[in-house]
Amino acid sequence: MAEEHREDEIKSQKRLGVIGFPIGHSRSPLIHNYWLKLAGLDHLYEPMNVEPENVSAFLKKGQFIGLNVTIPHKEAALAACDEVEPFAKRVGAANTLIWRDDGTLYGRNTDGIGFIENLRAGAPDIDFSSGPAAVIGAGGAARAILAALMDAGVPEIRLTNRSIDKAYKLAEEIKQADGADAPIKVLPFEDRAAALTDASLCVNTTSLGMKDNPPLELDLTSLAQGAVVTDIVYSPLETPLLKQAKAQGYTAVDGLGMLLHQAAPAFEAWFGVKPKVTPLLKAMVVEDLNKR
Ligand code: ATR
Repeated sequence: MAEEHREDEIKSQKRLGVIGFPIGHSRSPLIHNYWLKLAGLDHLYEPMNVEPENVSAFLKKGQFIGLNVTIPHKEAALAACDEVEPFAKRVGAANTLIWRDDGTLYGRNTDGIGFIENLRAGAPDIDFSSGPAAVIGAGGAARAILAALMDAGVPEIRLTNRSIDKAYKLAEEIKQADGADAPIKVLPFEDRAAALTDASLCVNTTSLGMKDNPPLELDLTSLAQGAVVTDIVYSPLETPLLKQAKAQGYTAVDGLGMLLHQAAPAFEAWFGVKPKVTPLLKAMVVEDLNKR
C-alpha cells in the first residue's frame, strides 16, 4: 500500500498539462506531447478541466512540473503564484506555471513572446519601430499583445474595439502599469479603417473571422505599403481578413504560429531546452483542427 502511494506521488510529480474551462478545444496537449516524445522525455501532458471556483485550491494542492493556463483561468493563476515575472504582472495574467524545487509556484506569461516570435517567423523583415500598429479588439488577448508591441518598440498603437469603454479601460490600465506616456490611442470602432492609415501592422484580436463567426469587416487600403496583417484567430488558418490582406499585397501572418510560439518558451521553462516550431508540427496541428 505504502509502495503504491509512493508510486502515485512520483507519478504525480512528473505531471504536466493545461487547465481551462472548458478545455476540450485545447491543442496544447498535441504540441507538448509531440515535443516530449521528440526529446525522449517520459512525461504525459494532459488537458484538465477545472471549474473557476476550484482553480486556487487545485493549484495549491497540485504537484506538477508545470502547467499551462488558458481561458478563463489566467488571472486566477497569476493570483495563486508565489512569484511572477514582470511581464505577467504587467499583463495581469499567467499562462505558464512552474513548480520550483522548494514547492513554490512561479508564474509567467509567454503570450507576448508567442505573438512577436510568430510575426518574426512569418514576416522576417518586420521592423516594429517603422510605424504605427492598429490593434482591433480589447479582450483578454489584446492585453499581452499591446504590452509586447510596446516592448518591441512600436512607436504608436491605435486601439479600437466595438465596446469602446473596454478599449479606454484597457489603455488606462496599461498606462497605469507602464507610465502615462505609453503610446496607445483609442479610436471608435466605426473609425477602424482610419486607424490603419500608414500603419505598418494590423492585428485582429477579436473573435471575428473564426469558424461560425462573421468576418471582421475592415478596409485595409490605407495601410502602409509592405504592411503586415495578423490574426489571433487560427481556425480557419486563413481568415477572411488574411485572405483579403494577401490579395492586396500585404504580408499575412496566421494566428496558429502564436499558439506554437507561446508553447515553446513554456516547454523551455520546464525542461531547459527550447523546442523547435517546425512546419511538420504546424501541419499536425492544422490536421487536428480540420478534424474537429
Ligand atoms: P475576452 O474574454 O477576451 O474579452 P471575447 O468576449 O470573445 O473575449 O471578445 C474578444 C474581442 O472580440 C472583444 O474585443 C470583443 O469586442 P467587445 O469588447 O465589444 O465585446 C470582440 N468581438 C466579439 N464579437 C464581436 C463582434 N460581433 N463585433 C465586434 N467585435 C467583437
